Amino acid sequence: MVRTPTPEDKFSFGLWTVGWTGTDPFGVPTRAELDPWEYADKLAELGAWGITFHDNDVFAFDATDDERAARVGRLKDAADKAGLVIEMVTTNTFSHPIFKDGGLTANDRAVRRFGLRKVLKNVDLAAELGATTFVMWGGREGAEYDSSKDLHAAFARYGEGLDTVAAYIKQQGYDLRIALEPKPNEPRGDIFLPTIGHALGLIATLEHGDIVGLNPETGHEQMANLSYTHGLAQALHADKLFHIDLNGQKGLKYDQDLVFGHGDLLSAFFTVDLLVNGFPFSPDAPRYDGPIHFDYKPSRTEGMESIWDSARANMETYLMLADKARAYRADPEVQNLMRAASIDELAQPTLSDGETVEEFLAAEEAIDVQEKGTREYHYVELYQAALRHLIG
Ligand code: GCO
Ligand code: MN
Ligand code: MN
Repeated sequence: MVRTPTPEDKFSFGLWTVGWTGTDPFGVPTRAELDPWEYADKLAELGAWGITFHDNDVFAFDATDDERAARVGRLKDAADKAGLVIEMVTTNTFSHPIFKDGGLTANDRAVRRFGLRKVLKNVDLAAELGATTFVMWGGREGAEYDSSKDLHAAFARYGEGLDTVAAYIKQQGYDLRIALEPKPNEPRGDIFLPTIGHALGLIATLEHGDIVGLNPETGHEQMANLSYTHGLAQALHADKLFHIDLNGQKGLKYDQDLVFGHGDLLSAFFTVDLLVNGFPFSPDAPRYDGPIHFDYKPSRTEGMESIWDSARANMETYLMLADKARAYRADPEVQNLMRAASIDELAQPTLSDGETVEEFLAAEEAIDVQEKGTREYHYVELYQAALRHLIG
């Protein structure tokens, strides 16, 4: 370990991450299940700052109100004693068979009314526990067959559900924001809101979209062959980066949920660069200062001890990359290459201050197209400099 994580690092983990027992579509669990408070205690010991969970990570789908209160109370006590923040709470609207066609977008209206009540009840719990983010991952919102849905109605119902939850949060005066988590597929063949861009598009149509933003996950964007770092940047540009799920993914396959950095390492480096350094050439740009949340799974081949080794590995990777990203930005050679690549120039507006389109069109500007067409950008050298910082 480079250094022991501290609460200042703001590392947090979902209870379902360390708590995954290895069940997959082909096999039964390979590890025993612990109680939620046992995971919390151990995460605190490792230096985590926060925990997150779905309602049904803590109490069963059919728990009575008493059982629910007892288990939630026990977890809250453990978190308080360990000094852990419950920073995010989310709702399971995907495991029970009732949600097999979705929670907010199921064709069956009674299912949607049931799903929405489950979500709203959990919003109360999130607020009661002091969480400030309410993630909504619509894993079952989608379809296998294009013939399954009135797709216009599906988006209308998705929007209706989100607006209802957001309006309820405001009406109750809760200090809570909703963060949507895009994913292209799995478990549905096609999930609605498959990417960050799709989610931003739907948010823009909401009445209460001001408290609805994003919780992008590394692997989910990479499953769609997209750049996670670009996605984070666009969410920040829209002032919508409310939360993050860091993990590792190796290209276009099932959702691997590997340890952060165990997928595309260079991409992880630039993700951390964005998180710790922001946009140095755009000093007024929004920055992310929320939790560094990991949504990974200890691989099924590993035993009980490895749960903690892998949890530690996520934090270690992040800390190592953060040091390297700072050194990269401070390196004079890197700075020279950035200037040679005109990276600083992109922050300069294309039109001059106050320049009208008419003035712009009338301006006689000499440009040597031959020279511009053959100029160097030095991008390869710059990337190699980053690689040298990473593994040199
Ligand atoms: C997945 C998702 C989930 C969500 C979680 C919180 O692909 O399984 O990433 O892990 O993050 O349900 O909403
Ligand atoms: Mn995932
Ligand atoms: Mn996730």
